[in-house]
Amino acid sequence: MTSAKTDITIAEPAQNGQGKKLFIKTYGCQMNVYDSERMAEAMGSDGYTQVESAEAADMVLINTCHIREKASEKLYSDLGRLRKLKKNKPDLKIGVAGCVAQAEGAEILRRAPQVDVVVGPQAYHRLPAMARAAREGQTQQLDTDFPAEDKFDNLPKLRAARGPMAFLTVQEGCDKFCAFCVVPYTRGAEVSRPAARILDEARALVERGVRDITLLGQNVNGYHGAGAAGDLTLAGLIRELAKVDGLLRIRYTTSHPNDMGDDLIAAHGEVVQLMPYLHLPVQSGSDKILKAMNRKHTAEQYLRLIERIRAARPDILLSSDFIAGFPGETDSDHAATMDLIRAVGFGAAYSFKYSARPGTPAAEKAEVDSDIADARLQEMQALLSSQQYGLQAAMVGREVGVLYEKAGRLDDQLVGKSDHLHAVHVTDPAGKIGELVRVKITASVTNSLKGQRIG
Ligand code: 5AD
Ligand code: SF4
Repeated sequence: MTSAKTDITIAEPAQNGQGKKLFIKTYGCQMNVYDSERMAEAMGSDGYTQVESAEAADMVLINTCHIREKASEKLYSDLGRLRKLKKNKPDLKIGVAGCVAQAEGAEILRRAPQVDVVVGPQAYHRLPAMARAAREGQTQQLDTDFPAEDKFDNLPKLRAARGPMAFLTVQEGCDKFCAFCVVPYTRGAEVSRPAARILDEARALVERGVRDITLLGQNVNGYHGAGAAGDLTLAGLIRELAKVDGLLRIRYTTSHPNDMGDDLIAAHGEVVQLMPYLHLPVQSGSDKILKAMNRKHTAEQYLRLIERIRAARPDILLSSDFIAGFPGETDSDHAATMDLIRAVGFGAAYSFKYSARPGTPAAEKAEVDSDIADARLQEMQALLSSQQYGLQAAMVGREVGVLYEKAGRLDDQLVGKSDHLHAVHVTDPAGKIGELVRVKITASVTNSLKGQRIG
């Protein structure tokens, strides 16, 4: 089958959950947001509809994040609340999905007997069957396999678009083993989806009104999926996606500096649909810390890479991740990170205090004093915010593309994302959600821009 239309099949609904209500709470990264949507669809083909609160639900699913301790802990506080709810509502089913499910599956069942279903990120196509078994009285089910079958082949193909922007998973897992990170353990080894499946999904999304797709992967620029004539790199995949009629914008996240191939850098200068925004985590600006983190590049190599990317696409907005207080980090290591931030100038950034994760090599090392790590984090965040606001303010007077996403709070106002992923408010009585328009930026406010439509 070649045409997108004929390829979209609605999974034969068993509908055993007819009339049942599902509430999903999602923590963590964009892939969890994508996974939650796919789980909702899988449950939808069994008859479940989504609701906005646990109180209104027959089943509550918590899609968890394991990346830092704080994220993990939220699961147990949620489960405490749900235990009380279940006392008044004994038929309530409770499911735990995502990376905490993968990492601590059996432990969750031990600590929280009220849980019916624990399902890992590679097994969630089996969720409807597990929910069915739960309804029939089976509690404490666990599935954290990395099964031989591909979950994507076992999920309903129809995806309801929830607006003009969508995520699309193209790659999962990570082989990099940064010393602080649980992802290689929770999401497993790198696996790339075949290009034909991704193109089908992209076409289906476009048919449902999507105009801007963010390709997702834990190490997305390591993508190497089967194409029509041999394996494709991420750049090759992007060039194929750029041929999809009606797909106006392409983005991708998250990348590793060492997988920024020449062809991907070139694509930034050549593919008009590829937006001028790149999230490229560096974590630290100190070579000693980068080495201890097992990042396998130096600060200088990162800076040279940024130069080459900017040469290909001068207006690109750069974003990154940073960790403050990695074991062994001294004041001068921290100063080197501040220098790197000043040297690059980031338009967006995420910075975190180091959190020791069980099972990772860094967790064996002595930790930096917590107050010192906090102070470094604050210093870093102050610099990153000032860069972010500075680059946002520099957009005033410029003309950008804006894809209208939703209605604004004021009459006749629409809100959308610019090419650089800034939120832009535009008063435009004739505008429609899903429309890509030209806007002249007139003002920069705290977390967004204002603009006037010019085309
Ligand atoms: N502690 C703090 N931050 C972490 N990250 C990953 N693992 C940890 C950890 N143990 C951050 C990194 C990564 C982002 C997704 O989360 O900066 O890029
Ligand atoms: Fe974790 Fe990213 Fe490093 Fe992979 S590349 S181990 S996901 S921080």
